[in-house]
Formats: sequence, C-alpha cells, structure tokens
Amino acid sequence: MRIPETGLSREELFARLEAFRSDDVDWRSGRTWAYVYDPGRETEQVVKEAFTSYLTENALDPTAFPSALRLENELVAMAASHLGGGADVVGNFTSGGTESILLAVKTARDHARAHRPEITAPEIVLPETAHAAFHKAGHYLGVEPIVVPVDPTTFRADVVAVRDAITPRTILLVGSAVSYAHGVIDPIRELGEIALERGLLLHVDGCIGGFLLPYFARLGAAVPEFDLRVPGVTSISMDFHKYAFAAKGASVILYRDRRLRRHQIFACAGWSGYTIVNPTVQSAKSAGPLAAAWAVLNYLGDEGYLRLARTMLEATRQVCDGIAAIPGLRLLGRPDMNLVAFTSDEVSVFHVVDEMRERGWYVQPQLAFGASKENIHLSVNPSGARWVDDFLADLGRSVERARSLPRGDDAAAAIREAVAGIDPAKLSEEELAQLLAFAGADGTALPTRMAGINEMMNALPPRMREAVLVEYVNQLFRQPG
Ligand SMILES: Cc1ncc(COP(=O)(O)O)c(C=O)c1O
Repeated sequence: MRIPETGLSREELFARLEAFRSDDVDWRSGRTWAYVYDPGRETEQVVKEAFTSYLTENALDPTAFPSALRLENELVAMAASHLGGGADVVGNFTSGGTESILLAVKTARDHARAHRPEITAPEIVLPETAHAAFHKAGHYLGVEPIVVPVDPTTFRADVVAVRDAITPRTILLVGSAVSYAHGVIDPIRELGEIALERGLLLHVDGCIGGFLLPYFARLGAAVPEFDLRVPGVTSISMDFHKYAFAAKGASVILYRDRRLRRHQIFACAGWSGYTIVNPTVQSAKSAGPLAAAWAVLNYLGDEGYLRLARTMLEATRQVCDGIAAIPGLRLLGRPDMNLVAFTSDEVSVFHVVDEMRERGWYVQPQLAFGASKENIHLSVNPSGARWVDDFLADLGRSVERARSLPRGDDAAAAIREAVAGIDPAKLSEEELAQLLAFAGADGTALPTRMAGINEMMNALPPRMREAVLVEYVNQLFRQPG
C-alpha cells in the first residue's frame, strides 16, 4: 500500500473512516461493559469540541503555550483536593494510567539511586492484583516486581505477605484503590504503616478508582480512606479518561511534595538541538487531551459527577444481587466500586462470554491467576444502567446455554501436559503458531467465538500465555495483504 497519488475528497475520506468502524464494538448502545466510559452524548460533544480546539497546541513547552501549563496546573490542583492532598502536593498530567505508573516507578527508582545508592537491583512489592502496568514499568526501568498473594476471599492485598516480601532492595510498595480485576480497595492504611515503619515509598494506584470512590463514599458506600490523607502514601495516580469521562490520553500522577517529584523530571542539554526538559514520558504532545479533561471537569462539575456516580452505584448493586441469584454463578469478592468479577463452578465462563456476545453484549473474560479463578469482568457504566434487567436476563440465558457446551477441561488438561517442562522463552515461531492454530486463531482474522482461545490461554502458565500473545500480536500488526 502506498500513499495515494492524489488526495481523497473530504466526503470520501470520512465515509471510509466511518466504514472502517463497522466491526468495532457498538459501545454507544450501552451494551459494551468494558473499554469505553460513556457519559452520554451531550458531554461527549463538549469533550470533543474542547479536544479539537486545543488539538494543535503543543504542551511540550509551557513558555510558548502557557495555556497548556494553566490547564495542567488547574487539573492537578483539582485532583489533589479530590484526593485529600494539601498545598504541598505536586503532580503532572500524563497520557494514561500506564504512563502515571511508569513515572511513579521511575521516580521511586531514581529516589533510591539518590538516597540508597547501595541498591543495585531494586525491587517493588506488588500484590498479585496490582495492574500489569507495574510489571511493564519494572520491565522498562530495570526494577524487579516481587509479586505477593492476596486474600483468596476478598482479593485485597495481604499485608503480612507484603511485609514478608520486603528486602534490603525494596524501593516501593504498591496498593490499589480499586484493583481492576475485582474492583476492591487494598488495606492502604496498613500498607502506609508498613511504609512509614520501613522508610519506604508507597504508591496508590487510583487510576480507575481514584476519581469515583470519593463520590461513592459521599453516597454512603463503605469506602475506607485510600488517598493522600493516609499517612505513608507518597504518590497516587488517577485517570481522568476513566470515571472523569475525559477523552483518552488523560491521567494524573500526584506526589506528596516537590522533593520526590524532582526524580520524575528528565532534562537533556547533551545534544545539539533545543534543550529538553520533560516532566513526563512524552515530549511534543497535543494539548487536546488536557483541554478535554479540563472541559469535562468544569462541564459536569461536582454535582454532575455525583449524579453519574449514583446511577453507577445503584446499577452495580442491582447487578451484584442479580448475579448472585443466577444458579451456577458466584461473585469473586465484594466490589467496592462499579467493577464486578464473577465466575462459575458449573459452566465455562468463556462460553458465557461468547453467548453474551451473540446476544449483543460485550463483557470481558479474565484468565485464572493466583487466587482468582477464570471469570467475567464487568464495568457498570452510566450508559449500561438502563439495561440492567435485560443484561441479567440474557446472562441467565447464556449460562443455561453454556451448560450444553463442552467445558474444555479435557483439552485444558491435554494442553497443560503438552507444555509441561517447556521453557516459554525457547518456543520456536512454528511451535507458537501451532498453539495459535490449535486454539483457532491463525493470526489473520479474529474468530467470532473466542472460547477456544480463552480456554487454551487459561490452561497455559502465565509466561507461556505471554509468549503466545507476543506471537499473536506480532502476526496481527502487519501490512494489509
Ligand atoms: C487499576 C488500574 N491501573 C492502571 C490501569 C492502566 O491504565 P491505562 O489503560 O490508562 O494505561 C488501569 C486500566 O484499566 C487500571 O484499572
């Protein structure tokens, strides 16, 4: 494929862009319970307009674009007060949860380099429910994740396990509020006590929960303190592009004070071009996401967010009660927010996911890991609230239908046996391709029913899952044939 010789007309161009979307999940229907945080058409329009109005401003240089600096400082201030921070709190706007977490880990690493130079192989202690972004940060930054079990019933971090995992090389503890997988808050107060006692930094991952939890608390939900009010918490991340309903590319990382944040900032005068000083990972960047986040906070206001939170809280309670009443299903933990995980001991949850898809719903499968059995994950969003009764009725039907479909236990056992003792790092491209073909994915198109792939992935050890996925994605992203 080459750049077309002559340009397309505007009409043709936008028609094509629209047509490309035909196979995407239909999130506007309110039946996609993952990926998209939809506050409704009117707010979406405001977000879009704000985004495009600042699309071409470059947030790289606050002296050339003081408007971008102003937007960022105002967003950080609103985030700090939302999360119990005082006047000393500083922070930065980032492109998303992953970038905020990368920066928290980088800051901890460079803080340790400055204050504990004897550490040559730094470690971070992660409850097994901590987001994969911490592993990614460790991978990018040369920091070893030490993963510890969580309570197998509540799925909250086990503070004894965290304490036992601390070594002279530990530079950072991590807690989630809430965890993505089960939507629960870790015991942040206890983690803070450990951090203070051992002189360690503590990051709270509030990427998905930080914005919404304070509203749930105001509506009467039991929400223990998880933010900068908790002694020992040194940094916290919160995404605007989740439950603040900003456009994607919007998160914030906050630090208790400037001394710590100093380790986040990168400057480079060692080349012949313009001198660089970047507080975050990106350098040149559109101010569009900043403007969109600023706009949505100011448009919805506290009142608007409280209203949306009430809708989500009520819908989540209904969904949880409904799931508990469906024979064959059980909740994993009790969610503190609007993220729900449930499993089955009677049917394959992966068939339930496919059956729901056939009925027009998108729900997210989660593979078994540690204390958590394979399960289905729901994000109960405002746009889904009107559908709760239909959702539960179709879920009941999907479970009944799944009873007549094979659970895949034998195939899973065969896969486990076949890969036992194999080092995932040594699998050849052919062997990986065979595994993919076995699951019904040849890398050219996505199958409509995913149960085969999910069952196979679920049966594989996590390192092997990663190897298979890398191969799959390496096939998926390629030039159109
Ligand atoms: C708790 C938590 N942390 C981090 C992230 C990563 O955020 P992002 O996908 O914006 O990089 C997520 C995403 O869902 C999350 O739920």
